[in-house]
This record gives sequence, structure tokens and C-alpha cells, in this order.
Amino acid sequence: MAETADTNKHDFRNGFPIRDLGDGSMISGQVDGEELVLARLGDEVFAIAAHCTHYGGPLAEGLIVGDTVRCPWHHACFSLRTGEALRAPALDPISCWRVEKVADRIFVREKVSPPAPKRKTEGPSSVVIVGGGAAGLAAADMLRREGYDGPLTIVSADDSPPVDRPNLSKDFLAGTAQEEWIPLRPSDYYRDRRIDLLLHSRVSSLDTKNRRILLENGKALEFGALLLATGADPVHLPIEGATDSQVHYLRTFADSKAIIAKAASAKRVVVCGASFIGLEVAASLRARGILVDVVAPDRHPLERVMGAEVGDFVRKLHEAHGVSFHLGATVSRVNGRTVTLTSGTTLDADFLVLGVGVRPSLALAEQAGLAVDRGISVNEYLETSVAGIFAAGDAARWPDPHTGERIRVEHWVVAERQGQVAAKNILGRREKFDAVPFFWSQHYDVAINYVGHAEKWDAVEIDGSLDARDCAAAYKKAGRTLAIVTISRDLRSLQAEAAMEAELRLQRREVA
Ligand SMILES: Cc1cc2nc3c(=O)[nH]c(=O)nc-3n(C[C@H](O)[C@H](O)[C@H](O)COP(=O)(O)OP(=O)(O)OC[C@H]3O[C@@H](n4cnc5c(N)ncnc54)[C@H](O)[C@@H]3O)c2cc1C
Ligand code: FES
Repeated sequence: MAETADTNKHDFRNGFPIRDLGDGSMISGQVDGEELVLARLGDEVFAIAAHCTHYGGPLAEGLIVGDTVRCPWHHACFSLRTGEALRAPALDPISCWRVEKVADRIFVREKVSPPAPKRKTEGPSSVVIVGGGAAGLAAADMLRREGYDGPLTIVSADDSPPVDRPNLSKDFLAGTAQEEWIPLRPSDYYRDRRIDLLLHSRVSSLDTKNRRILLENGKALEFGALLLATGADPVHLPIEGATDSQVHYLRTFADSKAIIAKAASAKRVVVCGASFIGLEVAASLRARGILVDVVAPDRHPLERVMGAEVGDFVRKLHEAHGVSFHLGATVSRVNGRTVTLTSGTTLDADFLVLGVGVRPSLALAEQAGLAVDRGISVNEYLETSVAGIFAAGDAARWPDPHTGERIRVEHWVVAERQGQVAAKNILGRREKFDAVPFFWSQHYDVAINYVGHAEKWDAVEIDGSLDARDCAAAYKKAGRTLAIVTISRDLRSLQAEAAMEAELRLQRREVA
């Protein structure tokens, strides 16, 4: 096998024996110093970039499904043939190279140009997207990628352009990600694609009959098609004695920056809520050397979503990093720096961060008379009860074909993928949203991945060891696996996702 001494990687310019690349497998190497991956699918071999365009995940450690490759870190999906980012969270394509088979060796030749933009496509007279978050940006991006050429506006109540929201409680809050990395797109992206981005602009009403929205600043906008991607708002809890400046919530870039500013001179913080956001905030503040007390009414952190065993593992992980837990209690009052809990315990705190859940932002949908049921009700095409008005992301409740239930989740990847599917359906593609729900959460050096959806289960089967941080936990109901949590088993997570997709295809074939 040809290897270069400096990188110890296969040099694919010198050819690679095809017999050493099994069907459905991948191998890393390089060409002219650029890392890439050879992927084999039957008799075909593809050469693609080694790293995912989302956070740089190593694609060779991912999974080939059909003619796509899935990223091991957060399940982005790329076409092996064109490199196109078919499904979020990656929005940009990966590079591809031409390969040539000579005798029994595969040679990587020149880089192939990315696929040409799609031809101009027919669509509504204009598209307005309410919400500059995950779903809104992914939808706008897909509309332009699919060749929609008409007027396209994103109206966002946020002060900042769409940002990498998951980062706000993780690396950015911990101080290890720079501010410039947080916007999802640079400002010239919007200009080049003719996306009119109206920031700091809250929509106050929606007139479905005249197909018009009204902004709080008095401006009216007409639309041919509308996407409601209004997300969710943190639940605010009144705390006796606490001043506004003592209590922080975390949803926006501005919220994260405000916490960082306070953290600069803080020594102790009380985090209310042992949810993902609360615990990620705790981890990030620990990285800044701040002492953190987590207060929550639950018996085990994350119990509702992942059960007691995984919850207790997460608790131990945080305790090993110096976080103190006060479970079975809530904050009853604050007096200066003293935080008193319902248990009678008193804690000292410079400020408090509340991560006690979110509520979907439904005000516009309710005011406009759209069908709402603990979320904006949409059909399998993500269309609301009014034709031409779609909804996606944290605000939407959709018929999930995997569980057979109407569900609403608060996952970054789901929101982006719904935005992408809604965009295609705005253009009349009639694509069903049937992605397997996925989310990840990061605590120190431990990433937890979750595929599927289980609100209730009757058994949790753990393969491997939580303490060794190497396991897969299956959440089962009546013998059927509804969801899988993995730690250090990214491939298992991808396999679980692919199995759930295959199960759905089979069910559909049987029905047909
Ligand atoms: C700190 C943090 C960390 C997270 N980490 C993870 C994670 O690790 N993994 C994961 O899967 N998920 C994570 N999430 C959840 C994830 O970010 C959400 O599921 C996702 O952002 C939902 O996307 P969305 O587009 O529905 O809503 P958002 O991204 O919240 O966007 C909603 C947009 O709508 C705008 N808006 C609302 N009402 C109006 C109105 N009336 N007029 C105009 N604009 C309006 C808002 O200003 C905002 O721009 C995290 C969330 C937070 C806050
Ligand atoms: S790094 Fe590939 S999906 Fe996130």
C-alpha cells in the first residue's frame, strides 16, 4: 500500500488496491496534502472530503446508507455522488474527486466542480419566513439551492443574524469558541442570495385572508407563501426577592453574551434546572472556574428524557467536575447574594441562570386562527391548517411516522431539516417530513447522542458501560426500540437511525 512518510496516510494519487476496500466501507488517505476518503458502494468507488462541513466530523468513521454518507458526530447526510449536503446540520457540500480504476487499483484524479446551481424554478410570488433561527435559515438556504428566484424575506425578532444556537451554551459560553464563529452565515451570504434579512423585527399579526403580516414597527409585508419558524421561548419563573439583573435566561446570542459578561467577575452561580441547557451552562461556567450549584425539583437530572440511570451518570460526571446538586428542591427566594431553597438550604450566588424549559412561540398562529395543539399543527408536508402557510422547528407539531404520534421536539437538527423540507414543499415538491429525530448534548468531553423519540418506555437496555463512557442505551416499549442514547458509539447511533428509516420504508411497502 502506498503511504506518505509525513502523514502516514494512503496517498491515493499512487492508487489503492480495490480488494482492500470492502463494500460499504471507507478508508482515509490524502492527495496533494488534502485529506480525503475513499468510499465503496458495490462496484463504484467515490472520493470525498475527509471532514464534514458542519463541525469537521471525520466522515470515514460515519456510515454509508444508499448512496449517501452520514457524519458520525451530528448525522449530517451528504451525497457520495455530488457531495451535496442533503440533510442538515451541514448546509454546505463536501468536495468530491474523480476516481479511475486501473487494473485492480483505484486512482484519485482531479477535484470535481461542485454541482451547478439548480435551474430557476417556479414558485410562489414571494416567500416570507418568520423566524431567523435554525428552521428559518435552513429553509431560506434550501429555497435558493432549489432554484427559487423570487423575493425572499426572513423576519427575525433577534438582534443578530441566524446563529449556531447550540454553541451558545457550550464552547462559546465556555470561552473556547470565538464570537466570529457563531453566526451561521456571513453577512454577504444574504446579499449574494438576495435574502432580505429583517432583524430586530417582531411580527405582531398574520392576516391569512389577505396573505399579509404586520410588523411591530408598523411595516406590512405581503406573501405568496409563509413559513412560521418562530421557535420557542424560555419559561420565565418569578423568584421572590430577585432583581432582573440577577436572573439570566439563555436563548439568544445576546443572552449568552450577557452571561459571559457577568461571569467575568463572578465566583458562584446557581443554575435552576437540571435539563440539557442548565447542565451545559453548568459545564461551561465550570470551564471558567466558577463554582456552580444546580437546583432542580427532579430526583435525577434528565430523567424525563433519558431515564434515571443515564441521568445519574450525567450527575456523577458533573460532580466529578465540581458541580454541586440540590435535587428535590427549587429556589424559594433571593435576598442579595443569598439564595434560599425550598429545602431550607441557603446558597451564595453572584447571579442565577434559569433553564427550566421552553414554550413554543404560538402567539402568531393562535391570533391568525391556525390549528394549534400544544404547537402549530402541521401535516406530513409541514403545511398548517391554511394552505400555503407552513411551520417548522420547535413551534411545530407534526405527525411523526416512526411513533405514529403527533410530536413536537426541541432539537436543532430536526428544526433545520424541517426548514429544508418545508422549503421544498413551498415549491410544490410534496415531500413528506419523515426524518428520525436526532439531538446531541455536550458535557465536558462527553457527547451524548439521541436518535428516535421515546416519551414513555417500559425498559431501558444498556449495552456497554456508562461508567466507562462507552455504551448504547435502548429505550423500549412492548419490545420495540423507540430511541437509542449513545456515548462514544457514534456508529451505533447512525446504525440505529438507518434501522429506523428502514423500518419505516418496510411499513410503507407493506401498506402499499
Ligand atoms: C443554548 C441552547 C443550546 C441548545 N443546544 C442544543 C443541542 O445541543 N442540540 C440540539 O439538538 N438542540 C439544542 N438546542 C435547541 C435548538 O437550538 C432548537 O431546537 C432550535 O434552535 C429550534 O429552531 P427554530 O428555528 O425552531 O427556533 P429558533 O432557533 O429559536 O428560532 C426562532 C426564531 O424566531 C424568531 N421569532 C419568534 N417569534 C417571532 C415573531 N413574532 N416575529 C419575528 N421573529 C420571531 C426568534 O427571534 C428566532 O429568530 C439548544 C437551544 C439553546 C437555546
Ligand atoms: S460535524 Fe458532521 S454533522 Fe456535525
